[in-house]
Amino acid sequence: MITTILTTIAIVGGMAGFLALLLVVAEMFFANYGEVIIDINGKRKLKVKGGSSLLSTLNENKIYLASACGGRGSCGFCKCKVRSGGGPLLPTEKPFLSPDEIKDNVRLSCQVKVKEDIAIIIPEEIFNVRQFAGVVSKIEDHTYDIKELTIQLTQPTEINFKAGQYVQLQSPRYGKIKQKVSRAYSISSSPDHTDYIQLIIRRVPDGICTTWVHDFLKEGDEVSFTGPFGDFFIQDTRADMLFVAGGSGKAPIKAMLEYLDARNSTRRMGYFFGARSRKDLYLDDLFATWEKSMRNFAYYPVLSQPTEQCEWDGRCGYVMPYFDEFIQDVNNTEAYLCGSPGMIAAVVKYLVSKGIPKEKIYFDSFA
Ligand SMILES: Cc1cc2nc3c(=O)[nH]c(=O)nc-3n(C[C@H](O)[C@H](O)[C@H](O)COP(=O)(O)OP(=O)(O)OC[C@H]3O[C@@H](n4cnc5c(N)ncnc54)[C@H](O)[C@@H]3O)c2cc1C
Ligand code: FES
Repeated sequence: MITTILTTIAIVGGMAGFLALLLVVAEMFFANYGEVIIDINGKRKLKVKGGSSLLSTLNENKIYLASACGGRGSCGFCKCKVRSGGGPLLPTEKPFLSPDEIKDNVRLSCQVKVKEDIAIIIPEEIFNVRQFAGVVSKIEDHTYDIKELTIQLTQPTEINFKAGQYVQLQSPRYGKIKQKVSRAYSISSSPDHTDYIQLIIRRVPDGICTTWVHDFLKEGDEVSFTGPFGDFFIQDTRADMLFVAGGSGKAPIKAMLEYLDARNSTRRMGYFFGARSRKDLYLDDLFATWEKSMRNFAYYPVLSQPTEQCEWDGRCGYVMPYFDEFIQDVNNTEAYLCGSPGMIAAVVKYLVSKGIPKEKIYFDSFA
């Protein structure tokens, strides 16, 4: 009896799967949506070929929305308002949208397919985002799994951004990887240098873009990226600044500190860098230089698992208990966090419990 039920379920499931596959294939090869109009902010009309996602259709027309996951529906960065023509909200979008956003017709542009005339609202600053080409002029190994690239811009030759913002680097087809992808990387150089950018990239095992950067990319190679994106940047106040970032999260903090150092900033600043062992520390000399040039800046490296070989007599364990060494007045402290979603959630919870107002905690999550 049970065998019959299981066999029936398997047959019905298989048929449903086959039909779904047929629909996808039919849609890919036979659906023809012809030309449709995308109305942007009620001011601009684009005539485009229907059938692709809103994100990629806009990209093809040189309008670049943020898309940290490259359109896979897993980052939630590509939001825009769809006033009409976007079709029903998909289950893949719901986890990334708040009830207010859903009410406000916010959608994930990588999930919305352009099938008919569509009207959207996007922030005006998106029109400043451009596609850049450059040449990798330098690759430095900072640790066994972290490299810093210097990309000299060739087309256009200048970029304007705010310290803390990021770009979307495109990796080509290489080796067994048959698809081009695009991934978000924070700019690690100061915006004072407009003719090049630097990126600090940590290897993710089997990661498409980072394997290309670590194992295939060479000095002299051409690369392309879009940007700048993001709202993680220095607030124009006189509040104390608490920075927390481990691993490649150091990238935007380096850009911010280089920018502040060039302006002889006298703001009180403390940077807590969490690493596993001494071999994960990097650019310590640079941060020590800034401790000398900026009298109110202090650098606090903390090792969570120092080994005997580390010969480490510095701070050990989690970074959070050491914040008390820096924080003087919770109402006059801003926090700037960068790194994995788990690390950010833990630090935000800790800082809020200490009394730092949530609205003064700024972060970029490397989701
Ligand atoms: C705003 C923003 C800024 C970022 N800035 C930087 C930066 O400055 N430097 C930097 O190195 N990275 C940064 N990242 C992360 C980066 O965009 C990529 O996600 C990361 O480099 C992995 O890309 P990949 O193509 O190699 O891996 P993928 O091919 O995308 O992933 C391969 C596998 O690894 C998992 N994975 C993906 N990312 C990570 C991760 N970080 N740790 C562990 N597992 C992971 C995936 O779930 C997947 O299973 C940033 C992300 C965001 C959203
Ligand atoms: S691009 Fe990442 S969710 Fe749309």
